[in-house]
Amino acid sequence: MKNIAVIGTGYVGLVVAVGLADFGNRVTGVDIDDVKIAKLNEGKLPFHEPGLKDYLEANIESGRLSFTRDISSAIPKSSVVFLAVGTPPRRDGSANLEYLESSVDAIAEHARSYTLVVTKSTVPVGTNRALGKRIRARGAAAEIEIVSNPEFLREGRAIQDFFHPDRIVIGAESERAREILVDIYRALKLSEVPFLWCGIETAELIKYATNAFLATKITFINQMANLADKVGADIALIAKSMGMDGRIGEKFLHPGPGFGGSCFPKDIRALASTGDSFGVDMSLVKIVAAANEEQKARVVARLKVLLDARLNGLSIAVLGLAFKSNTDDVRESPALRVIADLLKEGILIRAHDPQAMDNFKILFPDISYCDSGIEAMKGADAVLILTEWNEYRSLDFSLMRKVMRGKVLLDTRNLLDPKRAREHGFIYRDNGRSTDSV
Ligand code: UGA
Repeated sequence: MKNIAVIGTGYVGLVVAVGLADFGNRVTGVDIDDVKIAKLNEGKLPFHEPGLKDYLEANIESGRLSFTRDISSAIPKSSVVFLAVGTPPRRDGSANLEYLESSVDAIAEHARSYTLVVTKSTVPVGTNRALGKRIRARGAAAEIEIVSNPEFLREGRAIQDFFHPDRIVIGAESERAREILVDIYRALKLSEVPFLWCGIETAELIKYATNAFLATKITFINQMANLADKVGADIALIAKSMGMDGRIGEKFLHPGPGFGGSCFPKDIRALASTGDSFGVDMSLVKIVAAANEEQKARVVARLKVLLDARLNGLSIAVLGLAFKSNTDDVRESPALRVIADLLKEGILIRAHDPQAMDNFKILFPDISYCDSGIEAMKGADAVLILTEWNEYRSLDFSLMRKVMRGKVLLDTRNLLDPKRAREHGFIYRDNGRSTDSV
């Protein structure tokens, strides 16, 4: 059993802390937020994540998992410290590393014996080596080694992704570090998860390359869907057939209102900024970032055409505020841009989301929030679906027609059956499955 500290209890940090405790390690989660720490010690989650609460409670109960604000007590008793603090974007797109820097400063100050620092946070290439230098410059009493171990879990599927990852990537430079990590992850080794050992810079870039490639894949299918709309082709079949080609793969080919979340938008900007600082052309990811903004803007442009350009004073039901389903996270959600654009047009918004309304309210306190999708549709001139929550897949068309004033239905996630929607008299549009002129 290893004593491990995990600094940062956001999505990645909390799932890693819970997962490592479940592997049999003794884990202390550290965060500067008192309220969060108190909640976590009571087994309460600070955000919505399916399945996580059971693991949290079980591991606290087993005595292997606890949380503290006190980094100075957590470090000396841990032989391994995972870093999972945020690296938010600065104004120029580059990653802000101040939380990482203050964490390694604390490690340098408080470590009493050999300590392995494992960076989970997504950091620009070169960061881990620079952090290592920073630790040495501070004259730490103990030997401290740093490795890069990027995390690939997704919000909404974090438990599944942590316990059944496609691979574990570790950028490490010593045999000692390698042995420690094999020991920590032995449960995954036993279930034959592939381990990829590499240099630190390679591990750092693997994370950005993966996220940027996935963002590019989504942007590609979004643009193909826009084209399919114009020419009467079916994007579902195009994506299915592309996915059958083993060189492409079937995943991340679902068109939508643009990608969001705390990772893809931030990471492609940071990768572009890294390219700029090394004088390397990263124009592809810059175009992806711009095209994604266009995709979000396109939603309101389409609504305008469907509603004969008369948006002022109309009422629109917006279904879905989270950046994707199974999360209450609204960071960089397409709904933020779309609702801001709709408000500028003088639209009355009636919004619903099964989990994300509280978080959205902080940013948009003045729109109407409704308890259900159908409640939001009462008196609405149009319905706009932005997030792929399962409950929106089985909307009752007859009831919708009864409660709505209008009949426009824009389904940006392709959740509904176009034929059935039209049979019920809807002016139905989606992303690339049914010909339209907008
Ligand atoms: C993403 C990566 O998928 C994870 O592997 C990575 O660990 C994480 O970022 C991170 O760097 O921390 P996440 O942001 O949780 O995970 O969500 P995704 O499931 O990747 O979705 C991102 C966005 O793309 C969402 O807005 C989603 O709706 C959109 N998307 C995804 C599509 O529009 N179409 C698709 O086919 C897939």
